Amino acid sequence: MPPPVPHIETRGGWREAIPVVGSVDLPPDPRALESLGRNHSLETALADLVDNSIDAGATYVLIRLVRQDGYLRTLYVVDNGKGMTPETVDAAMTVGGHREYGDSDLGRFGLGLKAASFSQADDFTVLSRAAGRPAVGRRWRLRSGRSGFQCDIVSEDFATGELRRDWNVPMGDSGTVIRWDHLTCFPATNDSERVETFVARMTTDLFNHLGLVFHRFLSDGRIQIALDVTDVEHPLPGARFTVTPKNPFAYSRPGLSGYPKELRASLAGRELRLVCHVWPPRSTSPEFRLPGGAASRQGLYFYRRDRLLQAGGGWGGLQGVEDRLQLARVEVDIDDDIAGLFRMNPEKSKVVVGPEFGALVDYAEAEDRTTFAAYLKAAEERFKESRQRKRQRKKMLPLGDGFSDAIRDAVAAEIPTLPGRPPIHLRWRAMDGDEFFDIDRHQQTLWLNERYRRAQGDTPLLKALLYLLMEDAFQGEHLGPRDRDNIDLWQAILTAAVTDETLPGGTA
Ligand SMILES: Nc1ncnc2c1ncn2[C@@H]1O[C@H](COP(=O)(O)OP(=O)(O)OP(=O)(O)O)[C@@H](O)[C@H]1O
Ligand SMILES: [Mg+2]
Repeated sequence: MPPPVPHIETRGGWREAIPVVGSVDLPPDPRALESLGRNHSLETALADLVDNSIDAGATYVLIRLVRQDGYLRTLYVVDNGKGMTPETVDAAMTVGGHREYGDSDLGRFGLGLKAASFSQADDFTVLSRAAGRPAVGRRWRLRSGRSGFQCDIVSEDFATGELRRDWNVPMGDSGTVIRWDHLTCFPATNDSERVETFVARMTTDLFNHLGLVFHRFLSDGRIQIALDVTDVEHPLPGARFTVTPKNPFAYSRPGLSGYPKELRASLAGRELRLVCHVWPPRSTSPEFRLPGGAASRQGLYFYRRDRLLQAGGGWGGLQGVEDRLQLARVEVDIDDDIAGLFRMNPEKSKVVVGPEFGALVDYAEAEDRTTFAAYLKAAEERFKESRQRKRQRKKMLPLGDGFSDAIRDAVAAEIPTLPGRPPIHLRWRAMDGDEFFDIDRHQQTLWLNERYRRAQGDTPLLKALLYLLMEDAFQGEHLGPRDRDNIDLWQAILTAAVTDETLPGGTA
């Protein structure tokens, strides 16, 4: 027998008004700072600082790593924006400190600087100068041992000195330096190999992330972002690297004609605009194969005020991530949170969509009446058809030494390979005669005559053409009469071409 259902008094037991008898002041414990920004990685944290630089009107942001005795010690973020004044710096250092935000401001919560900094460093210092005003400095320490929220005031001399250092940034008379010390992600070793590996990996991850998040700003020159590494013992900074834009929609031709299509919906005063893209299949461009892989980068790309908040990775509950949809990417420009529709996280690295989003998408239509479902179907068909076409192509031998990664990637993407067969190598060697090439089936190598190497410039284009032309001659048990005749024919014509010194246009 099931247990008896208890009787719950719902009406009589519930009172709307809660009686209070006074209040106590409960300032947050400073340890609360430590839990800020737990969702940050180094890349997302630095993106948050770049947001602030952009809001301050900066045109240049330098990220500098400082080494001492081989250890990584400090990270600086320097910008040439309008800076802070002695009156505004305290609000800037306040957790949740508010200011008036303009229509194009990336800031919104009054948290970014603090959350980003504490997620990466135990100490962070802000040194800043507004035009015609004295330099100011403040420092927050996570492990100061103090009981309250007390922020250090940095001496004006020190702030002025830090701002005047040889940053090699077009500074003008204002700017800001953010300094992070005791970074949790820095390696705790001065072993040069490990430190260099860390710096290389960090730079790649950072450039991928910043290149993506700020691609609209970088490509129209609103901001430049650079990174260098300096050594306290050798004052000259090392090579400086500049972040290049990574536009996730930068294909040279769309995968389907008629795309991208703009789908619009409006329902109960809410507007939605979806720009639906179809990538060409198997693209080898870095913008297609973003970190994480092209297939997992399908989905919705949310931008707020030109800054990318989320770079694909899902369909916001409309649809699961599936291999067959890997060519589909949708650009959605949103502004501030709209209840029921969108909400961004304070790290500005994710957008959560609400239940009304799906309803609006169902309503969305392009001018030619294409719906969202029809778009997804078209992108899926395009992918399937291209996979089918690849499967139907004649299998070829894989590429070995002598070909660039770009050719190798393109061949792997386009041509099914003969399983279990050795690859074809392409190499140069000295030959007695003036013939251009030699097909060496024994060593599975296409030899090219060294004497033409300089004239031919050793180009990827030449190598790709030779592979496409001659690959067949490496297949099969032995060369048939037809193969032999082909080789003689190629030899005659290519050798004539390679020894021809006539300039284009006809004059020798
Ligand atoms: N590089 C900078 N140059 C000038 N002012 C800055 C800079 N960085 C921060 N500030 C000031 O500090 C304030 C606080 O920055 P913080 O990133 O914490 O919050 P926010 O940008 O206002 O909002 P959000 O939490 O959305 O980033 C900013 O509003 C700005 O006034
Ligand atoms: Mg901010």
